[in-house]
Amino acid sequence: MSRAYRICVIPGDGIGKEVTPEAVRVLEAAASSFGFELGLDVLPWGSEYYLRDGRMMPENGHEVLANSEATLFGAVGSLEVPDTITAWGLILSTRQKLDLYLNLRPIRSFPVTETHVGPRYQEPYDMLIVRENTEGEYVGLGGRLYGGTDREMASQVSVFTRHSIDRAVDYAFRAVPPRGLLTSVTKSNALPHTMGLWDEVSEDVAGRYPEQRWERMHVDAAAYQMVRAPQRFDVLVASNLFGDILSDVGAGLQGSLGLAASGNINPEQKIGIFEPIHGSAPDIAGKGIANPFGSVSSAAMLLDFIGEEAAAESVRAAVDDCLTAGVATADLGGTCSTTEVGDELVTRLTASSRS
Ligand code: IPM
Ligand code: MG
Repeated sequence: MSRAYRICVIPGDGIGKEVTPEAVRVLEAAASSFGFELGLDVLPWGSEYYLRDGRMMPENGHEVLANSEATLFGAVGSLEVPDTITAWGLILSTRQKLDLYLNLRPIRSFPVTETHVGPRYQEPYDMLIVRENTEGEYVGLGGRLYGGTDREMASQVSVFTRHSIDRAVDYAFRAVPPRGLLTSVTKSNALPHTMGLWDEVSEDVAGRYPEQRWERMHVDAAAYQMVRAPQRFDVLVASNLFGDILSDVGAGLQGSLGLAASGNINPEQKIGIFEPIHGSAPDIAGKGIANPFGSVSSAAMLLDFIGEEAAAESVRAAVDDCLTAGVATADLGGTCSTTEVGDELVTRLTASSRS
């Protein structure tokens, strides 16, 4: 019997609706080239769903996602719905509820072409940011008091647990390539309680990997070093907010937020939601110019996750091929539309399976 996978697809809002279909075409081309089947369940969740039903996703939405082999997600965010509702109503609550405790964000140099708009580096770089994805600065605890008065106050509490730091740092240690370096991102000079615990737990985990080279680096220094010398990093492990920020720094290195991919995963429960790290970009939505490479690279991560590594590799090769050939959207200095990039990717995938 052939391999078959049930995949949920949530295009979401804005450019999510434009880039996700291209990634789906790429997935379908990869499936037919590599001889597996995809049962796609396209879910209309997001801001329009909210404006109609008063929620971003149905009540049993988390179960639907948990029961699929993996999910491809686009982006959420709309001018008509407050940001906190779009973020918490779908992706942030799902990360917590399904205990997707790792957010894997690879940042690697892509072939630099004449039109390449990002910074240029002599040496290639290839790093993985492991972002703790369920707690830290993102627990959602806090509140406001005395609104509209001059006593107005707000609190947003960070919560760090030994358990969650341990599992994120442990995964990061295991993800380091041979002879590579693990960087534990901290800020314990200014935040001695939460980041102090982060450092202690990192130290404890390091004790389990005595051969592994590792270092501690403050987040500000890490942001600086990522720009200054990205080649020095292999794997970085960071708290939820630090990982969020550093992954945008990484996308800046690559030349565009439109290139960066991610996977929210729980490896033990085999639940994975893959998404480009960019948002819904209402300013360019509907114009057909959004960069689909981040979504397509997220689809490649999804293929790895379901065990179709050869197909994943060929999708990455097709992405590199396109970029080398100058097939790129405007954010990368190119002239292609979103669907033209999709066409080129599909052509390359289909050709590579024949050769
Ligand atoms: C990301 C995004 C989200 C985050 C937003 C949309 C809440 O920036 O996935 O990086 O902060 O995690
Ligand atoms: Mg972000």
